[in-house]
Amino acid sequence: MTTQPPALGRHASASAAPRPASPDILCRDLVRIFVTEGIEVQALQGLNLRVEAGEIVALVGASGSGKSTLLSILSGLDRPTGGTAEVAGADLLTLGRRDRVRYQRQTVGFVWQQAARNLLPYLTAAQNVALPLTITRAPDRRGRALDLLDLLGVAHCEDRLPSQMSGGQQQRVAIAVAVANSPRVLLADEPTGELDEATSAEVLEMLRAVNAETGVTTLIVTHDPTVSEHVARTVQIRDGRTSTEVLRRTETDEHGTERHVAEEFAVLDRVGRFQLPPDFVESLDLRDRVRLSLEPDHVGVWPDGSVPVPGPVGPAAGAGRHRPGPVPRHAAADGATADVTAESTDETGEQR
Ligand SMILES: Nc1ncnc2c1ncn2[C@@H]1O[C@H](COP(=O)(O)OP(=O)(O)OP(=O)(O)O)[C@@H](O)[C@H]1O
Ligand SMILES: [Mg+2]
Repeated sequence: MTTQPPALGRHASASAAPRPASPDILCRDLVRIFVTEGIEVQALQGLNLRVEAGEIVALVGASGSGKSTLLSILSGLDRPTGGTAEVAGADLLTLGRRDRVRYQRQTVGFVWQQAARNLLPYLTAAQNVALPLTITRAPDRRGRALDLLDLLGVAHCEDRLPSQMSGGQQQRVAIAVAVANSPRVLLADEPTGELDEATSAEVLEMLRAVNAETGVTTLIVTHDPTVSEHVARTVQIRDGRTSTEVLRRTETDEHGTERHVAEEFAVLDRVGRFQLPPDFVESLDLRDRVRLSLEPDHVGVWPDGSVPVPGPVGPAAGAGRHRPGPVPRHAAADGATADVTAESTDETGEQR
């Protein structure tokens, strides 16, 4: 079941104000190293991520790939070891203590997997939502709390304690708490991890509806395979780096028939590194190093030892680089990470 939310009421206009063109989340070469008993764990190994203002993005990846580590940094709870992490203009590497507290209260909202961690057990739903508003001394706190519970489809739970609500209802209230102070960014770490499939779909749909209604930039970590039905962009994190993204859109043909299109992209960092998807690596048995070839409009990747197929001949063939044909190269494979722009070629195809 999908519940359509009512309008957010008097607070909608504040949240819907024009936003700056800069992204709300920008991570460049983000590194987080944990050291426990002398053993180093590189949880984030140069992660790159850009999320535009108002976007909703799902972050997926295997257990231990660094998803929660990233969300802890973005929520201001943890500090990165290196790289850049900026959220709504705040630099999370240099943010001082007072600014960090203000950042956590007003710039970001957070929903955890465990409902018990999101809500205070001795406060009702309405009191839980009003609490962050009390801290920021917002006016008409009860009115705002009731509007938000209504938006999340749990207005009827206003006087219930968390123990008197289902897991799905608690997570809806948790989302209301997280967006109470109209944060710029909403972060959710496995918000549906403890819910059954149907309730999980409802909560994901609620996150999407809140994003659409308030414009809050939303990043959801999830293992839920149905997440792609709720968001247009899914980013895959692998070994502490964003590796691939799937973008979905709906196209309508000349007969008015709708078609869902999903395209997979590799994430390219500033120096040109990207990860080949594991199934590509396996199906061509790519290892150690691969042969590269620069074509007018794409880069070819072949197993070491194979001979590249020549690219198209004609006016378009040399476009941009003015060279006669494909330029074979070798790239050492760092796991499945390729670097395709570290070198450039001159007109004779020789490496510079
Ligand atoms: N506080 C910590 N101290 C030491 N190592 C840590 C700490 N937090 C995370 N790690 C390690 O960092 C890596 C990434 O952990 P993280 O919790 O970010 O993974 P995850 O993608 O959220 O996994 P899951 O899907 O299981 O929640 C793991 O190897 C983990 O053991
Ligand atoms: Mg996690």
